[in-house]
Amino acid sequence: MSRGRVLVIDGDDFARESLTGLLQPEYEVFTAKDGSEGLQIFGKARPDLVVTAVALHALDGIKVLEMIKRSSRNTPVIIVTAHAEMRSIIEAMRLGAYDYFAKPIDYSRLKEMISKALESTSHSADLIIPESVLHDALPNERTIVGRSSGIMEVIKKIGQVSSSRVNVLIEGESGTGKELVSRVIHNSGVTNGLPFVAVDLSTLPETLVESELFGHVKGAFTGAVRDRKGRFETAADGTLFLDEISEIPLNLQVKLLRVLQEREFEPVGGGMTLPMNARIVVATNRNLEELVRRGKFREDLFYRISVFRINIPPLRERREDIPSLVIHILQKINRELHKNVRRVPHDVIKALQNHYWVGNIRELENVLLQAVVLAKGDVLEKESLSFLQSTGSIAKAEGEDLSLELMEREHIIFVLNKTNWDKTEAARLLNISRHTLYNKIKAYRIAQ
Ligand SMILES: Nc1ncnc2c1ncn2[C@@H]1O[C@H](COP(=O)(O)OP(=O)(O)O)[C@@H](O)[C@H]1O
Ligand SMILES: [Mg+2]
Repeated sequence: MSRGRVLVIDGDDFARESLTGLLQPEYEVFTAKDGSEGLQIFGKARPDLVVTAVALHALDGIKVLEMIKRSSRNTPVIIVTAHAEMRSIIEAMRLGAYDYFAKPIDYSRLKEMISKALESTSHSADLIIPESVLHDALPNERTIVGRSSGIMEVIKKIGQVSSSRVNVLIEGESGTGKELVSRVIHNSGVTNGLPFVAVDLSTLPETLVESELFGHVKGAFTGAVRDRKGRFETAADGTLFLDEISEIPLNLQVKLLRVLQEREFEPVGGGMTLPMNARIVVATNRNLEELVRRGKFREDLFYRISVFRINIPPLRERREDIPSLVIHILQKINRELHKNVRRVPHDVIKALQNHYWVGNIRELENVLLQAVVLAKGDVLEKESLSFLQSTGSIAKAEGEDLSLELMEREHIIFVLNKTNWDKTEAARLLNISRHTLYNKIKAYRIAQ
């Protein structure tokens, strides 16, 4: 993502400059000549790692270490001593130093240690969006963010299908990005630049579906005061995206199947036939096979539309995508609201990664929007995450997971968040042993 940021504190000009020269190509380096300047710069720049000498003016390196650890427990601090002086080394390690080095410094070993330390803390570090990215590079709304294997599979499939015009069925829970994927298919293939027309079948009244899709001529029914083009015609050679395809009335399923087979259609009341050239992409958050079994969806139509299937996994199954999604979404929200929220503390990321996300990325967008609105400075506060405010965040919508296990998992996370992840306290509140709590954290794969 962004370059690591390293603060070097050393009163010896030569040592400081050679270290800076060594690290600069890879890291963003800040320097300070004494302890108090070091702390000042630390507070402002919030580096990811600190290298400090022990012998310093103003405040010595051990005191600097102690202060840094107090304000930012996860930041690795590497101590450099002039002589391998045992007393200060022991003190430094006790205070939480990452490691120590004796001068003269073996630079290649130090460099290796720095990169290891940054790696080991990158998953426990705060997320910070660099100022430059926040303001200069506007995020592309048509980008699919995430590098989890689930999302890579989706991206691979888009690549396979975008150069042809075969029908595509996109499956995934609500808010997983089905419409986004349909637009990316449209834009990255032969249909790019041609019309993209989306119809949401769950919001159209049953009586209007037919004329909406196929159009009608004047006088075809009461209220048809003039000819009206249908969506098939508007889509022309482009893409027709039929969202929530499971909601299409049974009688129209027959008609739709015929259109897909014959590649022509009749506007309502028209008595004429028009060619159908659009590429058809459909989406559903229901299990169509199940609906076919229950007689709610025609099997022949199902086969027609499911030639090529793309399944988007729910967000809770690809929690590793959350940090990059948070960055992407924050960029979008900051721009819209003229805000500057760019720091997401580690425990907030952790809370976001542990949430069950019934509403997937759309829910994540809403949670972040609320949190940004509440943010006073540039930090996204844990207190502003709406789902942590009550245990009522558990899915209650139709078809959602209502199992006791899910409830238990959510409740454990709720209590852990409440106690700041103090497991002894959490176990006490939950009225179970610490041992049982550990087992449950493991069994439910709660990220720590
Ligand atoms: N992988 C992703 N990367 C970036 N934004 C995403 C991603 N998936 C979904 N979104 C965003 O989440 C929101 C919901 O996506 P949408 O395509 O409308 O979901 P669905 O159609 O499955 O309900 C949209 O704002 C979309 O841009
Ligand atoms: Mg949708």
